[in-house]
Amino acid sequence: MEIVCGGDRYVLAVQREDFSAVYPGMVRYSVTITRDGRPEAVFRTNSYEYSPLVPLRAEEVAMATADAWEAGLRADPVAFPEGYRPGPLPHPVPLLTDLVVIQGSPRGDGNCSILAGWATDAARDLGRTVQVIYPHDLDIHCCIGCYQCYNTGFCVFADDMTGIIDVIRGASVIVICSPVYTFTVPAGLKLVLDRSQAYHAERVLTGGRNGQKGLVMVVAGRQGEANFTCVTRVLSAFFANLGIAYAGEILIDRVDATRDIRVTTGLGDKVREAVKRCLAGK
Ligand SMILES: Cc1cc2nc3c(=O)[nH]c(=O)nc-3n(C[C@H](O)[C@H](O)[C@H](O)COP(=O)(O)O)c2cc1C
Repeated sequence: MEIVCGGDRYVLAVQREDFSAVYPGMVRYSVTITRDGRPEAVFRTNSYEYSPLVPLRAEEVAMATADAWEAGLRADPVAFPEGYRPGPLPHPVPLLTDLVVIQGSPRGDGNCSILAGWATDAARDLGRTVQVIYPHDLDIHCCIGCYQCYNTGFCVFADDMTGIIDVIRGASVIVICSPVYTFTVPAGLKLVLDRSQAYHAERVLTGGRNGQKGLVMVVAGRQGEANFTCVTRVLSAFFANLGIAYAGEILIDRVDATRDIRVTTGLGDKVREAVKRCLAGK
């Protein structure tokens, strides 16, 4: 719809996009105002935002927004676009890091920390850049399943997860070290996995890097492979969701007390070799 007022020519448009390739039945609506061809205001919403329990549908919200914008524009074209500026800002250019290690245990001096240390040693031996993330030391809100990241490519929460996604975006190899907690990963690490959904949304909306590799190292107190089944499924699903190739796993059972892992013969070499192999692109 074309609106001419205050001597300017505005175009108000509602666009419908089928996102069913991402999630079944997902539809995204964008309401935009351009002035003389330049974007002035943008509002986005998608069908996954609305619970069946609320009397709102994405299409109705988009159309109601367009109606309100038309009325606002006609009433005061100078003041109106304030607050609806196109945004958010683009994601930063990735700060490239060769190896990113996510140390998923809340124990700062535990077995996963030792695994993480061996992994970082391997990268430093090769003169590669390394960053280590300690989720349990950070401020990360849980994902609330609002699906608004599929509108913008950004999460609604501005906390430490923004920086973690920046680091993941720029990593060549990502190593996750996790203990088994009640057959799955500890809560702090799970926050990172769930909130990385915003990075998935970003990749869907703007494209993402390819060629990243993900390596998994898991420690269990009990004996037997069954202890790892859920954790490896969770972590491989995480990597697959983000287009990160699964480059293998090192699973260590019967390791319970802090630093038990040091007595496992040859484990340090195994970890370093696996990381070096990934960094070499093999
Ligand atoms: C809350 C909690 C739950 C655990 N659940 C399991 C479990 O389901 N299976 C298992 O084999 N070990 C379990 N463990 C043992 C840890 O996996 C084990 O102690 C591991 O070495 C901890 O790694 P960290 O030293 O890096 O923290 C659990 C430990 C805690 C504290």
